[in-house]
Amino acid sequence: MISSTELKKRYLDFFQKKGHKLIPNASLIPENDPSVLFITAGMHPIVPFLLGETHSHGKRLCSVQRCIRTNDIEDVGDSWHLSFFEMLGSWSLGDYFKEEAISMSFEFLTKELRIPTERFSVTCFAGDKDAPRDEETARIWAELGVAKNRIHFLPKADNWWGPAGQTGPCGPDTEMFYHTKDIQEKSTEEFSKLSSTGPFCEIWNDVLMQYDKTADGKFVELKQKNVDTGMGVERTVAVLNGADNVYVCDTLAPILDKVIAISAKGTTKTNRNARIITDHIRAAVMILGDSKGVIPSNVDQGYVLRRFIRRSIRHARLIGIKGEFCNKIAQVVIDVLGDQYPEIKKSSSRIFEELEKEEEKFSVALENGTVQLEKRLQSIKESNQRMLDAKSAFDLFQSFGFPLEITVEMCKEKGFSVDQGGFNLLMKAHQELSRKGAEQKFKGGLADHSEETTKLHTATHLLNEALRQVVDPSIYQMGSNITKERLRFDFNYDKKLTDEQIKKIEDWVNGVIKAEADVSFEIMSVEDAKKAGAQGIFEARYEKNVKVYTISKGSKVYSREVCGGPHVKNTRELKSFKIIKQEAVAAGVRRIKATVE
Ligand code: ALA
Repeated sequence: MISSTELKKRYLDFFQKKGHKLIPNASLIPENDPSVLFITAGMHPIVPFLLGETHSHGKRLCSVQRCIRTNDIEDVGDSWHLSFFEMLGSWSLGDYFKEEAISMSFEFLTKELRIPTERFSVTCFAGDKDAPRDEETARIWAELGVAKNRIHFLPKADNWWGPAGQTGPCGPDTEMFYHTKDIQEKSTEEFSKLSSTGPFCEIWNDVLMQYDKTADGKFVELKQKNVDTGMGVERTVAVLNGADNVYVCDTLAPILDKVIAISAKGTTKTNRNARIITDHIRAAVMILGDSKGVIPSNVDQGYVLRRFIRRSIRHARLIGIKGEFCNKIAQVVIDVLGDQYPEIKKSSSRIFEELEKEEEKFSVALENGTVQLEKRLQSIKESNQRMLDAKSAFDLFQSFGFPLEITVEMCKEKGFSVDQGGFNLLMKAHQELSRKGAEQKFKGGLADHSEETTKLHTATHLLNEALRQVVDPSIYQMGSNITKERLRFDFNYDKKLTDEQIKKIEDWVNGVIKAEADVSFEIMSVEDAKKAGAQGIFEARYEKNVKVYTISKGSKVYSREVCGGPHVKNTRELKSFKIIKQEAVAAGVRRIKATVE
């Protein structure tokens, strides 16, 4: 049995031998990127570098990255889809392109993992009005020895990646599929049908980032052509072990076994409910254990977390799991992932506490809400209809805490649909209060590197330093989030700032803006960065070199901080800085929101 640890080691060794530098497995919550709730791919933490910023590790990178995806949550429970998974990634930032990327993928699959060529199919972009058919990629695969009838051309819906937002880098991709059975597909139609039903599994995607999609919808050739690849750890482990589903992977199998052990007799390993619980509790533990400290709530990451836990509880009831059970499963998750992610071991008591609280809250609500829903469906049926109205679905959310997908699923089981569009409108209005709607962000998007956010990145560095200068030298950054409109900055402090302190902080930052200080960066060793007094979270880093941004005027240094960028060139671009709000977020943690201009 090849384990996930073994696969990761082989992959990272392989790419490091080919000159790639290992970058850290980042927190699940994106840093400074309000356009997505979670890291959904290994490329997320390196978006600025795909857009042309200089990376401290050079032009070839690799990583293993934890990811959360909720856009295909309905598919979870089948053979291959997971909400939490690990992705092996490798990148060329304007260095090598198609020929080398595909050759490396082929070499790793066939030489290192010894997957026989007959066992896989590849797909290439079929071409459309935006970009030509990717004959070059097909030619490279053929030259490497992939049979012509195993190379399929598919349209944009299948073989194009990005931009995740409205604009940004994107391009055709080429995907590698493994055949779990000895199937000789003959046509692309046949392949498409089979690949969506199970015997084929996509294990790796090489994105050939060749274009920049502009605001007017044009695809302009990129100066820097990147390669962004992603290989699913659980899927690859499964196929290497001859399995036809991800639940054989060592980071899932013991969890599923535990779910089955506490469920009603006769529950099998292919039971969809048991698989959903396995996936969702694993995801919930990873979110709860993350250094950013997310807890269940009705907005943003907290709402996704709540949905994972509540859905698990409902599916548990369907397979005869009674009473509180989440912690029994969570313990196994910590056992199987705790070595790779020590933070979940460290915060296990908090994880258990939050799961217990959420379980307590929802168990009774689930029972009462189910009664209410059944009554409502009965009366709808009596009026000869088959759709639950938006208001009833929203009542279930507000009064009983039913996330929409629970209502949809329960209705579906009874042959009813739900007015989901109507529900989303009500939900949106409800979430307007907290500004950031959760649902609309589930699909993810690229980081925003507009002029506004760039200015706010630089303002964040100045605020960070101002707090130490004005309030307390032991203050450090605990979190940051930037939108086009404002920056948000969390730091360790246990008192409300006085009006006088707020004014002094603003004055300090505005002083640096007036001084027209230059913003520049240097790549240096972690040691040198520490010596130079750069701010930054050093314990979490295991890379050798870091990028350090300095804000200075002549010999006067105002701020020095480890950061990926992007930043303005001179502080004068910020014009003026203003604090708009301060609040407490947790014991000993305060938050400031501020704007520029
Ligand atoms: N970013 C690419 C993906 O997620 C590799 O498939």
